[in-house]
Amino acid sequence: MTPDSINNVKPLIWQNAALQVLDQRLLPHQEVWIECRKVEQVVAAIRDMQVRGAPAIGIAAAYGVVLSARQRYEAAPTDWKQPMEADLEALAASRPTAVNLCWALKQMRKLLAGLRSGDNPVEALLAGAQAIHQADLEANHLMGRLGAEIIAADHERGREVMTHCNAGALATAGYGTALGVIRSAWKQGLIDKVHVNETRPWWQGSRLTAWELVQEGIPAQLNVDSAAAHQLKIAPISWVIVGADRIAANGDVANKIGTYQLAVQALHHGAGLMVVAPTSTIDMDMESGDLIDIEDRGANEVLYAAGQRIAADIEVTNPVFDVTPADLVDVLVTEKGVIHRPNREQLEKLMSRKAMH
Ligand code: MRU
Repeated sequence: MTPDSINNVKPLIWQNAALQVLDQRLLPHQEVWIECRKVEQVVAAIRDMQVRGAPAIGIAAAYGVVLSARQRYEAAPTDWKQPMEADLEALAASRPTAVNLCWALKQMRKLLAGLRSGDNPVEALLAGAQAIHQADLEANHLMGRLGAEIIAADHERGREVMTHCNAGALATAGYGTALGVIRSAWKQGLIDKVHVNETRPWWQGSRLTAWELVQEGIPAQLNVDSAAAHQLKIAPISWVIVGADRIAANGDVANKIGTYQLAVQALHHGAGLMVVAPTSTIDMDMESGDLIDIEDRGANEVLYAAGQRIAADIEVTNPVFDVTPADLVDVLVTEKGVIHRPNREQLEKLMSRKAMH
C-alpha cells in the first residue's frame, strides 16, 4: 500500500466474486488479505477478529449472507432459502456485543423476504450488501464533518484529543467514526496531537490506530491504558473521542473495555466525551446498557503478550467491552445528527429523523 492509498484504507473489498478481508490480526507488520468464498470463512473471520470493529463486522456479515445464498443456490436452485437459516444463525452468533452485526443481518433478511425460492438471489443480495457498505462510508465522512464542527466550537479547552481502541478506517467501511472526526479536525487545523491508548488486551490502539495515524502523518503519541488519567491531567486534551459497539435506548454506550474508566477520568479533568457512531449502532430494543451481552474472550489474551506467557498461574476475567452510563456522554455524533447528553427521548427523535446529506 502506498501512503496515499492508506489514507483510503478499506478493510473489506468485494472482488473476484469474493469478500477480501484485510487480516487485522497481522497488522501493522504484515498486510495479508484473506479471500472468503464461503460463509463459513466470514463467520471465522469475524469470530477470530481478522475483521473487527462494529460497522466492519456488520458489513462483513452482509457479504456473508451473499456467500451463503450463492452456496445454497448452487446446491439446490429451487430450495436455497431454508438451508440459509443455519448460516444466518452462525453469522449472528459470531460475536455478541456489536449490534451492527444483527442490524446488517436484519437488513439482509428484509431483502430475502422479497425473494422466492425459485429466484437466483445473489444479485439482489449483493446489491444490498454493497449499499450497506457504501452507506457506512458516507456516514463516516458526514460524522467526521459534524464532530469537527463540535471541536471547532469548543477549541479553548485545548488542541489535543485522546482516543481508545480503533474506531478508524479499519473498523468501518473506511475513514472511521472516532478517527473520522479526528481526520476531519486535523485537516481543518483544529488539533495538534492525538493521544492513543494502547487498548489492552488486544492492542487495537498500538497496532491499528497508531498505524492509521502515523501513515497519515497526524501527530500522535501512544500511552499505556493506565497512563490515560495522567495524560488527561497534564496535556491540553479537550475531547476523548471513541466509537461504540452498541448504544442502548437510554443512551448507555457499550464500547471497548476501558472506555468507562476514560469517561470518568474525562469528567474529572474537564475533557468532553464524544461518542461517534452510525445509527446502525443504536439498539432501541435494548432498554439499558445493563442488558448488553459483554463478550469475554477467555484467559489467554491476558495471560500472554505476543505469544509470550506474562502472568503467573491465576484465574482471569477478560471482558472486552464495558458500558459507559449515558450521563457521562457529552455528545453523540451520528449520521442523522448530533445529540448533547443523549437520553431516551432524544434518541427516539433521532431515530425517526431522515438521514442528513
Ligand atoms: O473488539 P473490537 O476490536 O471489535 O472492538 C472494537 C471497538 O470497541 C470499537 O471502538 C467499536 O467497534 C467502534 S468501531 C467504529
